Amino acid sequence: MIGALHRTALAAAGFMPERASSVAAGVDRVFLFVLWLSAFFFALIVALTVLFVLRYRRRPSRAEPEPSPSHDARLELFWTAVPLALVFVLFGVSTRTYLRMVEPEPGRDPLRIQVMARRWSWWFDHPGGRGAPELHVVRGRPAELVLASADVIHSLYVPDFRLKQDAVPGRFTRMAFTPVLAGTFPIVCAEYCGTDHSRMAARVVVHPDQASFDAWANEGAAPAASLVDLGRTVFASKGCAGCHSVDGSPRVGPSFKNLWGRQEKLAGGGTARVDEDYVRESILRPSAKVVEGFANVMPPVPLEERELQGVIAYLQSLGEAP
Ligand code: CUA
Repeated sequence: MIGALHRTALAAAGFMPERASSVAAGVDRVFLFVLWLSAFFFALIVALTVLFVLRYRRRPSRAEPEPSPSHDARLELFWTAVPLALVFVLFGVSTRTYLRMVEPEPGRDPLRIQVMARRWSWWFDHPGGRGAPELHVVRGRPAELVLASADVIHSLYVPDFRLKQDAVPGRFTRMAFTPVLAGTFPIVCAEYCGTDHSRMAARVVVHPDQASFDAWANEGAAPAASLVDLGRTVFASKGCAGCHSVDGSPRVGPSFKNLWGRQEKLAGGGTARVDEDYVRESILRPSAKVVEGFANVMPPVPLEERELQGVIAYLQSLGEAP
């Protein structure tokens, strides 16, 4: 009977949209687990409440309450230990699912897309330089989205992917998945962000194969100004080139060649991986993490979110750490 209820719950008139990403099944499993767990305890507690109300209600023959024991250690241990164990199970299954949403499948070249949220639209910069107000990905190829916001907190929500991630001003957030169904799916903003929040919608196009994606990425005129171009311009115009080479030779600061993803040893101990947040911090607050062997001499360079995205794309274009 529970099995039939379970299937009915799943199928109930658009209760769940299609599972169009690699993480969707895991999210549904966690959701349904929590749902049935809650339903079980709801039923148990209501049934016991009704039972006790009927059984121990006041009756003419029972003027005074009957004496009852003050406590029962075994019973209290039992109803503490069981929920505690359940909480740990929930923690385990949800953490495992969550980790799959922020790190792309290892060992396969992910499609890296930078997302900019602003009131009230989305902008997606794809590899190869094409930016668009809609997201394009490839079925079967892992995708890694790095989200930024130009103003307030937004949230990128793709119900068919079972994915939702905030875009937060002042930091980068990450979303990873592999699309498993080709087609077009809606994107909405799931964090109230002002007047047109409810209209801050877009769509994701899942191409059936890489060739279809490439055809889209290359159609039309060459991109006027890709993120990489923007980053190169920032690099040249903000004086970065005075201290950072792009050919591997160290100057006052580390070279940018093959820098992306590198584990840097820091002055004063510790390491840091060169990723989006490290780059942001190193530009806005250069003294926070100084690479071992270099002097702490860089002044903060106040860049805008869009320029930071450009520098990141430019750094990625200069090669990754082996
Ligand atoms: Cu953007 Cu709500």
